[in-house]
Amino acid sequence: MSKTKKIKIFETKIEVSQALHHYRSVGFVPTMGALHEGHLSLIEQCCRENEITVASIFVNPTQFSSNNDLANYPRSLDTDVEKLAAAGCNYVFAPSVAEMYPVEDKRIFEFGILDKVMEGAFRPGHFNGVAQIVSKLFDVVNPDRAYFGEKDFQQLAIIRRLAAIMNYPVQIIACPTVREANGLAMSSRNARLTPEQRKNASIIAQTLFACKEKANLEPFDDLKKWVIEQIDNVPEMKTEYFEIVNRNTLQTAHQYGKDKLQGCIAVRVGVVRLIDNIRL
Ligand code: PAJ
Repeated sequence: MSKTKKIKIFETKIEVSQALHHYRSVGFVPTMGALHEGHLSLIEQCCRENEITVASIFVNPTQFSSNNDLANYPRSLDTDVEKLAAAGCNYVFAPSVAEMYPVEDKRIFEFGILDKVMEGAFRPGHFNGVAQIVSKLFDVVNPDRAYFGEKDFQQLAIIRRLAAIMNYPVQIIACPTVREANGLAMSSRNARLTPEQRKNASIIAQTLFACKEKANLEPFDDLKKWVIEQIDNVPEMKTEYFEIVNRNTLQTAHQYGKDKLQGCIAVRVGVVRLIDNIRL
């Protein structure tokens, strides 16, 4: 029997929560759909480590700052469900906006600097929206383990803090970034690049890999400057930020040797905004 036949789709909180509560270990992978191999690697890891795997597909309005961005977000529920089934996922939770936001969510989470720097500075309110939906999803699914990609490094820090604030009995599992053959981190946004831009965008990952090799050998500020120059020399590409931060606190680091470091970058490629990061 094909795995596709076994997958179950729920649209309401009550149904999904009732279906799950008698399992010993529930693994959860929240997504916004438009699934690629990066998402599916999370599903596969989740299946290996839990009795039951649940994925959610929900394009969360509160994490978008513009209605236009929200309206243009790619939606492909049928093919997403097929991909999830093939990857071994057992349940899909695909609620409507009214199901998740029956009333306006006015909660403001206090994340300290975690949501003020980098993505937080360029996308005000974004991480509060992420926290609102992830807390609602955790309340419904009540997972033992939840899987998030290191591709969205700052989001992972926010989710860990959210789980601590809310005292959720969940283990947050970080999964490695899945990349194209040329190094480009997989993202739903890559589909919006022209073939030329997509080829050029591999410079982001290539520069981060080289930066890892150079770390500890070159003065800190020279290294940061070098990274930005490499990328900004390519037509249509402009670095929004490149920060070297403490991996846990996301505070800007100023020297090697003191903290565990992560290099985090956001780059505009034409009209598309891409992010990536690397452990240094
Ligand atoms: P989305 O962008 O759909 O991503 C869902 C999950 O897939 C996130 O944990 C993300 O980090 C992970 N992911 C994306 N690209 C990846 C890649 N190339 N390699 C590994 N993992 C990757 O992130 C969100 O949705 C939303 O903010 C969400 C958490 C679902 C809340 O709405």
